[in-house]
Formats: sequence, C-alpha cells, structure tokens
Amino acid sequence: MSATGCSRGESRLERSFQWVGTGCESGRGRAYHGRVARSRLITDATLLAHVNKLGEDHPPIRMDSVDFTVNNPDVLRTRFAGVLDYLARVELEVERNVLELLTIMPNPSEADKVFYSDVWYDQEIAHGQILDELKRRIDLPEAEPLLQVGFAVQALGALAKWEPIQDVARTIYYFTGASTERQAVLAYNALSSQLDELGELAVRDTIINQIKRQEPGHFAFYRMSAEKITTDGTLKPWQLYLARVLREHSYELVGTHNDPQHQATMGEVIDVLGFSGQLEVFAKEIGRLEAKLLWANRQGMEFPPYVLRALRESVEMYREQGSFMARLA
Ligand SMILES: [Fe+2]
Ligand SMILES: [Fe+2]
Repeated sequence: MSATGCSRGESRLERSFQWVGTGCESGRGRAYHGRVARSRLITDATLLAHVNKLGEDHPPIRMDSVDFTVNNPDVLRTRFAGVLDYLARVELEVERNVLELLTIMPNPSEADKVFYSDVWYDQEIAHGQILDELKRRIDLPEAEPLLQVGFAVQALGALAKWEPIQDVARTIYYFTGASTERQAVLAYNALSSQLDELGELAVRDTIINQIKRQEPGHFAFYRMSAEKITTDGTLKPWQLYLARVLREHSYELVGTHNDPQHQATMGEVIDVLGFSGQLEVFAKEIGRLEAKLLWANRQGMEFPPYVLRALRESVEMYREQGSFMARLA
C-alpha cells in the first residue's frame, strides 16, 4: 500500500487500498476524511452536522439516473456474478441492519437515529436495488437478502436495556459499521477499475462510481462515532474489555452470517477484485481503526488477528466450494 504516494505508476491494487483522503482521490471522500482528521473533539453536534450534510449532498441514487448499457453481458456475468450478487445482497440487507440497530439501541442518539433512518437506509437500499436490476439485465437471479435479526443480536438487545450494556453494543456496532463501509469503499474502487479495463463505462460511471461516492461518508460517520465513544470517557475499563471480548468472538466479514456459502462468495469477491494475494494489507485496511481505538495497538498490533482469520477462512471456502456461478449451475 502506498501511504502517501500518488504516482501514476501505482498498481491497481495499491490504488484500491488508498485511504480516503490520501490526496489521491478527489471529491467528497477527501473532504469528509479531512474534516475528521482536523476535528480534535468529536461531539454529538459534530456527528449530527455530518449526517445532515450527508443527507443533503447525497440523495439516494435514482434508478432513472442509471444507464444499464452493457457491451458484453457474457463477460460481465461470467466474471462478476459472485461479486454482483454479494454486493447487491449486502446492500439490500440494510433493512436487517436497521432492525438490528433498533434492537441493540433502545435509546439512540439523535445523530444515530437520523443517520440510520433518514440517510443511510435510503442510500443503501437504492444501491442494492440498482445492482439487483443490473443483475436481472444480465440474466442473473435476484439477490436473496437475509432480513431476520439473529438470536445473538436479540439477546444483546435484551441486555442493552441496561444503559452500560447499550454503550458496549453501540461500540461494537460502530466498529462493525466502520469495517463494513471500508470493505465497501475498497470493493467499489477495485470494481470500478476492472470495469474500466473491460470498457463497461456506462456501468462504471452511472452505477459503481455513483455508489462509491456515497460510501466514504458512511465510513466517516462510523469512524467518528467509534472515536468519540472510545475517547470521551463514556466507557469504563470493564466496558472496553467486554467490547473487546465480544468483538473477538463475534467478528465476521460483512454479509457472511456464519454461512459457508456466503463466506465462499465473500472469498470470491476478495479474489476476483484482486485482494487475495495481499490479505494482510487488506486486513490492515479494514482493521486498523479498531486496532488503534479498541486494542490501543497492543504489542504493535496493526490489525486484530480475528480480521485476518476471517479473510483467510473466506478465501479457503471459495477455493473449496468454487464460484457462485458454479454453484448456480
Ligand atoms: Fe452501499
Ligand atoms: Fe455504505
């Protein structure tokens, strides 16, 4: 990964791994990150202002703004069936994510509430619907999002009626959100580059690039929220300890739900998008925030070991089970 470089000679992988705001990207992502980097003290007002601005700057993408022209549907289907199915499903699962949030946060802050009910949900569901429409047009089956809240979250929700536990649940939720949104940023960056190489410019410009412009703002919200709750004195040492234990035992990559087939498709996404040769770099990208804030970079930790473990498992499942297309046949 290039920490500071923006040279033209960078590989696609290096470009994909660039943090929002390294100076190599233009547009909103850098602005959001810059705002985070400058803010010494993140307050409820800071978060609410960020969320309101996200809503103003990024209305949900309209279906009629999309050009679904595909030059070579066979190539798109063969190469990206697993990637598109995975991305569409995970975006559509925002419905389940919001139900989970309502469960684990009986008393959300105003910023949390406005974010998930007025801004995030509408943006993500539009991403999912557009990707699913693209899939339909290239003869792939509709995504099958999982919409039920799992038992573990329900149990945590029952305990979260006690405020100190709710704060622990919020902490985990913010780290989960940051890791998930970071994965989305990296995936859409890489997919955009590959579509460029294939000459599928309508899909790249009007679908993937439109979506990818909205993801850094989500990441920034979770990043700021995680930073605030772990540094403003809300959490006692026992709560931080509990958050670490729960995180270590419940970490999973977005949308895998402990399901071997979903894990295999995530492995396929990692492989097809070019990340499987550098899993440690990928782990650092999606785990460095919690390594710093939750684990205080213990013993030089650059990313929590459970992140790399989950990535390796997914890639192994993909090697064992084969591609999404093969499983369809
Ligand atoms: Fe999204
Ligand atoms: Fe997102």
